[in-house]
Amino acid sequence: MARYTEEQIEQVRSANDIVDVIGASVRLKRSGSGYVGLCPFHNEKTPSFSVNPARQMYKCFGCGVGGNVLTFVMEYENYTFPEAMEYLADRVGIALPKKEFSAKQREEENLRLTLLEINAKAAKYYYAKLKSPQGKLGYEYLQERGLSDETMRRFGLGYAGQSSGELYRYLQHEGYDDRTLQETGLFKMDERGVYDKFWNRVMFPIMDANNRVIGFGGRVMGDAKPKYLNSPETKVFDKSRNLFGLNYAKQGKRKKLILCEGYMDVIAMHQAGFTGAIASLGTAFTEQQANLLKRYTDEVLITYDSDSAGVKAALRAIPILRRAGLTGKIVHMEPYKDPDEFIKGLGAEAFEERLEKAENSFFFEIDVLQQEHKADDPEERTKFIHEMARKLLVFEDKVQRDSYLEALAAKYTVPKEDLKKLVIRYSSMEPEGYREVMEERRQNSRRQSENSEPDGIQYTYQLFLSWLVEKPEMYTQVKDIIKTEDYLEEPYRQAADLLYGQLENGQCEPAKILNCFEDVEQQRTVSKMFQTGFDATMDRREKEKAINELLFRIKERSIEHKMKNLTDIAQLQELMAEKKALQTHEKLHISLKDG
Ligand code: UTP
Ligand code: MN
Repeated sequence: MARYTEEQIEQVRSANDIVDVIGASVRLKRSGSGYVGLCPFHNEKTPSFSVNPARQMYKCFGCGVGGNVLTFVMEYENYTFPEAMEYLADRVGIALPKKEFSAKQREEENLRLTLLEINAKAAKYYYAKLKSPQGKLGYEYLQERGLSDETMRRFGLGYAGQSSGELYRYLQHEGYDDRTLQETGLFKMDERGVYDKFWNRVMFPIMDANNRVIGFGGRVMGDAKPKYLNSPETKVFDKSRNLFGLNYAKQGKRKKLILCEGYMDVIAMHQAGFTGAIASLGTAFTEQQANLLKRYTDEVLITYDSDSAGVKAALRAIPILRRAGLTGKIVHMEPYKDPDEFIKGLGAEAFEERLEKAENSFFFEIDVLQQEHKADDPEERTKFIHEMARKLLVFEDKVQRDSYLEALAAKYTVPKEDLKKLVIRYSSMEPEGYREVMEERRQNSRRQSENSEPDGIQYTYQLFLSWLVEKPEMYTQVKDIIKTEDYLEEPYRQAADLLYGQLENGQCEPAKILNCFEDVEQQRTVSKMFQTGFDATMDRREKEKAINELLFRIKERSIEHKMKNLTDIAQLQELMAEKKALQTHEKLHISLKDG
């Protein structure tokens, strides 16, 4: 259960002055009794982010985020609650007790820490080697590829020596046993002995979003195969959940991230000033990676290689991005193969232009479809138009679908009405014929309603609880109408339960509630729940109206849920009465005082 006591949380929170903590990453200016600055969570030119030292809270009047010092660190650094606690405790020299582990858990956690420590040592070893006379080959190779000393240092690039046992001997000398070393994925073992997996390669340390080295990629300096060798997955290296370059790309403002194919592309782009560049780790782009990106951005530019493999990979990535609620755009790099070569050939400015001209990913999908069909063959053209109509079914929103339909009709000179008829025909044929499209649409709408789409029930819970935190005085009215069992989903129900418990005792401490959730995703959801806040431009009446709309939705859904699961008939009458009361606003209404 709860990892930290309330006293500990309070101690850490109050020891970290919010102005100091936020001031370290956001330039704050005094304004009246508080401070203002440019919001680090959305792009803006005039400051609408304010920090209130008396209340020790922050609030952005532009994008609506707000909270205390702990939620700030969670959002800004993308930390979990325990990570934020540790970070802030460290900052002021408070020693927190270590988590209570079972013996087995402790052993595993120790192993993870040791693996990270070994990875860090290996990275330092490779880097030192690169800078030493024995690393001359590697250093010259990277220079040849246009990398500056500063870039090599920033990405910690290295060189794995000429012989196949150097790193092993070094780490053995540092006191690590074979069993532990085996777990790092840096060595091969057989009956004759232990060998370094990487040798005579330039090394690319792979870091997670918190700058910890979790694995390596190593490139040969010539044409030998394989060109890149990567660490296998280990207890600290999960390829599907990390992205190369994210530790740097995530910094600062929410910005467009640029998804590339390889390590070299990412590094070349960062060196040229495109610090949003990231790449997957020698494997295809995954759903989890898309969700990870969603924490930092709404739009992803894809700069995969312009060859057929790159196009194929892009076609795979687009629906994954779409499902995560991200807008994908395709950057064209012709006549070059990849961003690395493009920047070398035409420079950063020309690349910037290409980024600005990035193509809508849906149009890109249709373009590819067209290229697969010969334009001068009527049969092929018919097929293409049918495919196009089917593809339009991914848009569930009618307005959106129609505007795409219109654009495509114009672009490919297909009579609009014909295309429309086809779309209608196909939409009535689903799902058998078009399982794939349907699946994508289903997942889309599921995500939309579950996540942050303004009409999703989850968003309703989030907003309602968030406003309750902002106006705890509402509780006395709320508690008689919305009970904790009216929240039908977790983690909302549990969060509501904890919050009601606090409010019952005249407290309101969202951070303590966060503390009760172990699961990282749940922590994120709950943290959002407590920092959405009222829109500052709303007046009392608007707030009251909004609150009651949310209340209505929550209650109505709960009543309907109960009706569906009804077992006894007496209950039905009760529920019907409740529903009627809800509809006529009788009793079930919250009124706000001024302010
Ligand atoms: P590319 O072959 O496109 O490499 O592979 P690149 O980025 O252009 O590399 P340079 O410019 O020749 O050095 C793209 C990515 O695919 C993975 C690596 O992650 C690489 O960065 N890959 C490629 C491998 O894992 N193994 C390989 O043998 C080749
Ligand atoms: Mn390349």
